[in-house]
Amino acid sequence: MPIAIVSAMHEELAAVLDLMPDESRQSAAGREFWVGHLHGREVVAVLSRIGKVAAATTAAVLVERFGVEAIVFTGVAGGLAPGVQVGDVVVAERFLQHDLDASPIFPRYEVPLYGASEFRTDPALTDRLASAVARALPAARLHRGLVASGDRFVSTTAESRALQAALPQALAVEMEGAAVAQVCHDFGIPFAAVRTISDRADDQAHTDFARFVREVASPHSAAIVQALLA
Ligand code: ADE
Repeated sequence: MPIAIVSAMHEELAAVLDLMPDESRQSAAGREFWVGHLHGREVVAVLSRIGKVAAATTAAVLVERFGVEAIVFTGVAGGLAPGVQVGDVVVAERFLQHDLDASPIFPRYEVPLYGASEFRTDPALTDRLASAVARALPAARLHRGLVASGDRFVSTTAESRALQAALPQALAVEMEGAAVAQVCHDFGIPFAAVRTISDRADDQAHTDFARFVREVASPHSAAIVQALLA
């Protein structure tokens, strides 16, 4: 069974695709899935697209149509907690949707009818991913813990501070992980996620974002995926 490698944007996945010599392209749900091999492992690489709904659709297609045995997400995130700086790497141990609020019917952040506000990543795959990061990027500072997802690019210092105050344990913020974690929970599929910090989710968050993703995050992803599958 193949393993899925997923990023939100092409700039994040480009270097991973360069590592797949024999990939063939298959279309489903308006997405292009690259099916091939990496270090002899069967792999399906795909762009989740941006945001929770798009990522959930992609994850469901990976499980139902491509029969993947696990999903690994690699990409960028904004740093939230004080010590999480640009260039650091965050491996997620759990995810929460910071923009989910069905109160007063359900507690803030709780996913209705799940009785939980957080979904854990798979502990064994997460350990393997963290050790791949340590081998691939020995100089990078590595953090592990809570990542917050929501349908917003957080790009003001005010919003970043509000998120830090509401969710002091959140290391980083991005736009897809919690959705993929919930889909993987529903299907019983192991999930792990790694994010290179591209910005501090503040008033400067958009400055050089595209260049950082292309020049730093994409090679990071390729090195990490290579170390994971080696
Ligand atoms: N991904 C990378 N940086 C981000 C930010 N500041 N907000 C949301 N998602 C991000």
